[in-house]
Amino acid sequence: MKTEQFITAFHIEDLEPNEALENYCKEKNLQDVKEHHTSFFEENQEQLAKLLVPAVKDFWKEVGIMHGYTAFRLKHIWIQHYNEGHSHRVHIHSPLKNEWSFVYYVDCDENSAETVFYNFGYPYIDHNHYKVKPKKGRCVIFPGALPHEAMPNIDDQRLVISGNVAFDK
Ligand SMILES: [Fe+2]
Repeated sequence: MKTEQFITAFHIEDLEPNEALENYCKEKNLQDVKEHHTSFFEENQEQLAKLLVPAVKDFWKEVGIMHGYTAFRLKHIWIQHYNEGHSHRVHIHSPLKNEWSFVYYVDCDENSAETVFYNFGYPYIDHNHYKVKPKKGRCVIFPGALPHEAMPNIDDQRLVISGNVAFDK
């Protein structure tokens, strides 16, 4: 596990790329979501969770323990596909301290857009930012209140699973 001390801690783990997960995500018909400038799928979250959670649970548990929690609950999970020119502008997922969010990179190439994380309070205070480059199997988990965005994408391959987790004491 690589831990970055940037404004707040967040965590990046490069997991073994998972073929079953990749095939599942690729066979879905994603709906174009205009405000996200991306394609989005969130039906059958249970099936998607069944495929993702075994791959990430040790990593997420370790993160929870580092922050004083004993368990996590997956609250929401979805797939996003980025064609050329797609982006997902700056947003947060949750203001609550125990609610964290994740991005798992299912597929990408060297031109896939980076995820950029900003300091809390951005864009009112622009202090610093941190870029995560997509890599197959890479998972980043971060406080849900941390502003972030997917920059405009250059390829048509960028495929991610994203969602929210609640940690319990
Ligand atoms: Fe997000």
